[in-house]
Amino acid sequence: MFPIVSNDLIAPNLHRLVIQAPRVARARRPGQFVIVHADKQAERIPLTIADADIGQGTVTLFVQAVGYSTCRLVALPAGTSLRDLAGPLGRPTEIACWGRVACIGGGVGTAVLYPLAKALAEVGNQVITIIGGRSADLIILADELAEFSAEVLIATEDGSRGKQGFVTHVLQGLIADPRSVPQAVYAVGPVPMMKAVTDMTRPHHIRTIVSLNPIMIDGTGMCGGCRVMVGGELKFACVDGPEFDGHLVDFDLLADRLSTYRDEECRMLQRLPEKQRPAARKR
Ligand code: NAD
Ligand code: FES
Repeated sequence: MFPIVSNDLIAPNLHRLVIQAPRVARARRPGQFVIVHADKQAERIPLTIADADIGQGTVTLFVQAVGYSTCRLVALPAGTSLRDLAGPLGRPTEIACWGRVACIGGGVGTAVLYPLAKALAEVGNQVITIIGGRSADLIILADELAEFSAEVLIATEDGSRGKQGFVTHVLQGLIADPRSVPQAVYAVGPVPMMKAVTDMTRPHHIRTIVSLNPIMIDGTGMCGGCRVMVGGELKFACVDGPEFDGHLVDFDLLADRLSTYRDEECRMLQRLPEKQRPAARKR
């Protein structure tokens, strides 16, 4: 069993969970994830390890309550335990010294971006962080990212914080100026965002790494649930990724596969008690 040390709501439908898992805390590298199994009947949920505290023996996970299983997971209070937490899984991020790196987080993808950006800064990169959300209350980890970023640039769709628009509007400004153009870009967030980022960097030949979040089941390369096409080749995100060269990813196929179970997910949500269902999105 894996005790839940704390469970805090940090933005609408977004929880920060700190879990006691000393072995995973010691072994994990930036970019890796775990598969969480809340109880015997629960679905397996892949979650990026956003941070770890080796001294305390804990890992930090961010969970967006969007479906039946994630809503049940975030309803577990501190003091209860998860049945299983398997990991660390996936390949760690390849951390290189690029010079200036733009790290881009869209919405809850910012939680996945955080450990990558931190590791890139630790090896001496100048990290320009761009984070975006629909509104100011959905901007997460800005202060934490500011601790090691040269700059944190914010974009909100309603203009309630930072520049009005998408993260790509901010990236466009960086690329347009020879003094700020990045040598590499790391992007994590919704599929349309990652696609838009790669479309923007491709003509400038800027190396762009994305973190993919397909449906996962076993997390060990056995089930094929997480298959993605990268450079015309079949890859399993759980063992070959989750990070890939964004210019080679077939994002349309990924978006299509992510919507496979949408109707079933909607039906399952109706089974939850009203108070456990996610708050309605503003957009
Ligand atoms: P969201 O839809 O509110 O978007 C967040 C921000 O991303 C937007 O404010 C905007 O700045 C940017 N964005 C979105 N669409 C864009 C587009 N077409 N062009 C340019 N920029 C765009 O995101 P959310 O609700 O916070 O996040 C949920 C999504 O993130 C889900 O689809 C989830 O699967 C995905 N996600 C991905 C990962 C990953 O590892 N890639 C991790 C967690 C969540
Ligand atoms: Fe089963 Fe990747 S989750 S192969």
